[in-house]
Amino acid sequence: MIKFIDELDFDDKRLFLRVDFNVPLDEKLEITDDNRIRAALPTVRYAMENGARLVVASHLGRPKGEKRPEFSLAPVAERLGLLLDKKVLMAPDCIGPDVEKMVNSLEPGQVLMLENLRFHKEETQNDPQFASSLASLCDVYVNDAFAVSHRAHASVVGVPERVSVCGAGFLMKNEITYFEKAMKDPERPFLAILGGAKVSSKLGAIENILSKVDSLLIGGAMANTFLLASGYSVGRSMVEKDLVETAKEIMDRAKQSGTGFFLPVDVVVAEELGPGVSFKAVSVDQVPDDMMIVDIGPGTVDLFRDEIKKAKTIVWNGPVGAFEIEPFDKGTVEIARAVGSSPALSIIGGGDTGAAVKKAGESDNVSYISTGGGAFLTLLEGKELPGFKALERCASQGS
Ligand code: 3PG
Repeated sequence: MIKFIDELDFDDKRLFLRVDFNVPLDEKLEITDDNRIRAALPTVRYAMENGARLVVASHLGRPKGEKRPEFSLAPVAERLGLLLDKKVLMAPDCIGPDVEKMVNSLEPGQVLMLENLRFHKEETQNDPQFASSLASLCDVYVNDAFAVSHRAHASVVGVPERVSVCGAGFLMKNEITYFEKAMKDPERPFLAILGGAKVSSKLGAIENILSKVDSLLIGGAMANTFLLASGYSVGRSMVEKDLVETAKEIMDRAKQSGTGFFLPVDVVVAEELGPGVSFKAVSVDQVPDDMMIVDIGPGTVDLFRDEIKKAKTIVWNGPVGAFEIEPFDKGTVEIARAVGSSPALSIIGGGDTGAAVKKAGESDNVSYISTGGGAFLTLLEGKELPGFKALERCASQGS
């Protein structure tokens, strides 16, 4: 059983808090969405208020072992300080004698942000020596980085192997609680909405969820492969031809088990995937050879809306159209509105889907938006996260 931060004693101790502050930055290195920082604030505040000498660690982007200034966590430390209304110290690196000195001179309640863990390639390699260097910075380890807990990296699995007292933060607790509420004993009808570009990246999730839900709605470019498998021509749309047989098998399985399996009945087609191009809505049996599918059509919005209205539990992962390009965001925005108006328990997988719900102005009307993209998908696949496993192992060894 995982322990949570409020079950640990860390007064006056060095607490290593792994967070996921992998936030988007613009070309001026300004943070464009600080949601992941805000999401960890309850844990950060709790740690500070309870006397931790707090060492906050994160990755940012994929600098692949190089110290590249555009991936520095300095702007994140500044934003964290603003949100906490307290100075957050910034370390020059995440390991080494200078960092050790800074950590060891922290006062209880003070916060030090380490520099990007991925400036060392040893982080993603879960290098034992690197993990030991990180572990030597602390007495207690807390993971509140749900969004990176599907990665077996040094700061996610290596450090908790080397620290005797470990636990999870409040964000992790929220993520687990909502996900389990939906997946373990859902109020029915239980509906899943899956979208996004590729069937291949969602295959595991489709297969796992198919046995759990009452209905499944498929949108986004991944629906094209299912449409092709159903005998429709999809013009120049993105498809995964090698997965057509798999798509047929999935649809057969849904039919045999009586699971509702809904594909678009009409779609928006365009000449190109870009702004300002001409487009129109057509029935799925009338996609022109020289056009591509970019969104679900109005008939599909109605069909999906009806299913959403019936559901008591909804899990949604992946936009149903090319929502990043207006006006091809329309279908996704309409689905977000329908989910937002539903009284059902609604769990939104992070990344693009969370951004779509935000764009539709429905963030406050859904039950929970996960901070995880890949991590959420890993859970949907029915797999355990390495970050969770590491905390369980640490707890079982008597923290
Ligand atoms: C994410 O944004 O999904 C997490 O921060 C993980 O990042 P990664 O895919 O680069 O490991």
